[in-house]
Amino acid sequence: MKPLKTSVMLLASAAAIAAFAGAAQAGENSYPPLAPLGDPPIPADNPMTDAKVELGKMLFWDPRLGGDASTACVTCHEPAQGWAFGDSLSRGYPGTVHWRNSQSVINSAYLGQLFWAGAAKSLEAQAPSAAKGAVAGNGENDVMETRLAFIPEYRRRFNEVFGTQWPLISDAWRAIATFERTLIQNDTPLDRYLRGDETALSDDQKAGMELFNGKAGCIQCHNGPLASDENYYNLGVPPAERWEEDGLAQVTFRYELYAKGVTQEMYRQLKDDPGLYFRTKEPGDMGKFRTPPLRYTLYTAPYMHNGAFWDLEEVVQFYNQGGGENEFTDGPMAATKTDLLKPLGLSDEEVSQLVAFLEAFSGDEIQVEAPTLPPYGPLPGE
Ligand code: HEC
Ligand code: HEC
Repeated sequence: MKPLKTSVMLLASAAAIAAFAGAAQAGENSYPPLAPLGDPPIPADNPMTDAKVELGKMLFWDPRLGGDASTACVTCHEPAQGWAFGDSLSRGYPGTVHWRNSQSVINSAYLGQLFWAGAAKSLEAQAPSAAKGAVAGNGENDVMETRLAFIPEYRRRFNEVFGTQWPLISDAWRAIATFERTLIQNDTPLDRYLRGDETALSDDQKAGMELFNGKAGCIQCHNGPLASDENYYNLGVPPAERWEEDGLAQVTFRYELYAKGVTQEMYRQLKDDPGLYFRTKEPGDMGKFRTPPLRYTLYTAPYMHNGAFWDLEEVVQFYNQGGGENEFTDGPMAATKTDLLKPLGLSDEEVSQLVAFLEAFSGDEIQVEAPTLPPYGPLPGE
């Protein structure tokens, strides 16, 4: 990862950017090229077994891993909605709305930093923060663990998989992570093309790929096998339409500012999600979000951390204009917009070629059969 960061930083100077378009077309840029995606890394301390995957799948669907037993992982990561949630801002725990767009869990197994601002470092660490977060699952460890103990089939399955007499809530997160590692897509038209099948992409898509790597400059950030450098940028994405009018979204926003900790001045001033700033508390990180992988995006509209855009063409038009303005220009966010985005001057034909190429990052939709959830029952000997 180190050398990549250095090269991105070096290229961030204005002169290097000017040189970039030419260099990229000549194939001389130093960005990791798009590449076929292999198998996801499996952590040594949480190996895959069929029984663990099956248990993890049940738990992903089970709302009892949450506060009032209404909201499961699958509630906001619906297979039919790209394993995400098809609205700009995700639905939230009952009585709330989330303040960000739900991300797909497809291919999350490959990511080193999860969430739009990279707040979790592994799937094992991400799952509890989702199940317990106030506007997501809003669950409580002891309650969730006790519920598992009163479900005889889970007692049996946890015992078989983890060897414990009683289900441990920490093992529930490990099982869910294991299930997520089966939700992968690495056989897209782009993968097939990059593995040598010339016919896997149409002529338009091939032209789009040229633009992606050259004139349009997408490769600066969307690079390597995931089409993400896992770095953070402020693109000046406009607020989602409902952001200012939706009282519940504003309540969540205030709550997040308070819970994640900002100065009193900022609490009063900020009008939009400060993104990476929450983790680093560096003013220079205001409004930055992780470059998302482009795989599976055919199914995951709307796009961006706040779901501001409803289709891929809208996204490409946004880049064609040189990105956005950071609508709330009186705030501290405007200063951090990346200078890697410039108006691209793409013709209508080039826009549609680029959109066609983006579609090559997705293969068939991934659908699985919903599991049957086991009922509560008495403890043994009762
Ligand atoms: C109420 C809706 C909701 C629920 C419930 C929920 N999620 Fe999420 N999930 C989201 C949203 C919204 C994001 C993006 C949040 C952010 O970046 O702050 C997200 C992000 C993620 C990511 C990060 C993907 C990436 O590209 O970095 C993973 C993995 C994930 N969720 C898995 C889960 C699991 C596992 C559960 C159940 C334990 C769960 N989610 C429950 C809404 C939800
Ligand atoms: C400066 C780095 C950078 C460049 C250059 C760049 N992107 Fe992005 N891209 C990002 C970041 C960061 C986001 C998320 C921004 C946000 O949510 O605020 C994003 C989001 C996206 C999304 C939405 C994905 C999702 O899951 O919501 C698509 C599609 C996309 N970019 C395509 C492109 C294309 C096509 C190009 C070239 C025209 C391009 N990007 C150039 C960094 C970049």
